Amino acid sequence: MSEPIIKVEGLSKRYILGHQAAQERYQSLREALSRTLRSTLRTTRDMLSGRQLIQGDDPEEFWALKDVSFEVCKGEILGVIGRNGAGKSTLLKILSRITEPTSGRVTIHGRVASLLEVGTGFHPELSGRENIYLNGAILGMSRTEIRSKFEQIVSFAEVERFIDTPVKRYSSGMYVRLAFAVAAHLEPEILIIDEVLAVGDIAFQKRCLGKINDIARNGRTIIFVSHDIAAVRKLTVNALYLERGSVKMKARTEEVTTAYLKPQSGDQNSPEPIANYRRPYRNEGVLEIVGVTINGQPFGHVQLMIGEKLCIRIHLHISKEVESGLASINILDSELRVVSSILSSDVGYYLNAKVGGRTINLSLDQLSLAPGIYFLSLGFNQTVSTLGWDVVENLPGFTIDGSNNKAWMMRPDRPGSMLIQAANWSE
Ligand SMILES: Nc1ncnc2c1ncn2[C@@H]1O[C@H](COP(=O)(O)OP(=O)(O)O)[C@@H](O)[C@H]1O
Ligand SMILES: [Mg+2]
Repeated sequence: MSEPIIKVEGLSKRYILGHQAAQERYQSLREALSRTLRSTLRTTRDMLSGRQLIQGDDPEEFWALKDVSFEVCKGEILGVIGRNGAGKSTLLKILSRITEPTSGRVTIHGRVASLLEVGTGFHPELSGRENIYLNGAILGMSRTEIRSKFEQIVSFAEVERFIDTPVKRYSSGMYVRLAFAVAAHLEPEILIIDEVLAVGDIAFQKRCLGKINDIARNGRTIIFVSHDIAAVRKLTVNALYLERGSVKMKARTEEVTTAYLKPQSGDQNSPEPIANYRRPYRNEGVLEIVGVTINGQPFGHVQLMIGEKLCIRIHLHISKEVESGLASINILDSELRVVSSILSSDVGYYLNAKVGGRTINLSLDQLSLAPGIYFLSLGFNQTVSTLGWDVVENLPGFTIDGSNNKAWMMRPDRPGSMLIQAANWSE
């Protein structure tokens, strides 16, 4: 459990904006645009705040990773967390040898299977069957070994009927299911997983997490990137926290995730851009959450007193007319456990909107929440039935202050997040 199986030393990756975008043909225009926009916003923000620019001298160049060093031991289950754009996927691409680092070194002792963003790992023209054999061969397995796993892979992925169809015809769900099944069953020594579980349906995600757990118990090494902090906590022992391309922390998962969730001192006045909380796989840009305010203030631990009303305003950008859109808001506690799940359809509200900007309000008069820190996850779906959610997750939301309440003043450190004010005691 102690020899390093992966050693990363002084790893840096520089992207030349524009050039790279032209190289990566699969990258959508939309992605390229939002990347350019984000980098412009970042530069502007950094300049305004007097912060040293993290870009290179040339505004066209950008360091996605800067001097990253860490080790992973054999059998270690490492979570990698960090906001969108922190460099997680870039790191995993380098570890999987899909991208070359600009400088630094990676030493790996073992066969790696990676499950990166949809679009990597499989050959689109080949059938599911052929891709399974190809991936097995890449992992150094014999045909007999692969054949012995074949049935399990196909049934786990539930693609029996399409096994001889080229994978380019697969839906993204089928694609991910097969990719996961291949990576998980072909017994690599090191399994690298990047966010992909966000794609499949909930039942499949559960099965994947179960499978990852099995693999981990067999003593294999796993690197797991997820925006789902609860899953990272459940699965991993140690975690690496990346911030703007650098290692902010590597320690026990509990400690790292707690630091990650702690409100940053600047949160209240200048929260991070909402794009940093966006779930990577979203709808085709039909509707997008572009801003959130809480009681008139930008999100980010807005202060409320016990009993105060909560009004969440969500600004949307709609690029294709929406009929019967659905809104969902989850309120999460300081450990990111959902304490309440609110759906617009519960009260018969559906979004009908033309192209353009739109603002939706959710008012909650009775907030039975105890003092503490709360996060929000917001989702919009273009219709009730399709899986087209735009989701922003784990946004720092609000803090409820108990200093207006005598009982809480007397014992402010009580656990629990549900507030029950009128308890009748009797004998
Ligand atoms: N091919 C590319 N060309 C230019 N910039 C890129 C490219 N890939 C990633 N980046 C940028 O590098 C940064 C890190 O990206 P990424 O590793 O995908 O972060 P994460 O997975 O943590 O969200 C982001 O700012 C992203 O826009
Ligand atoms: Mg990523």
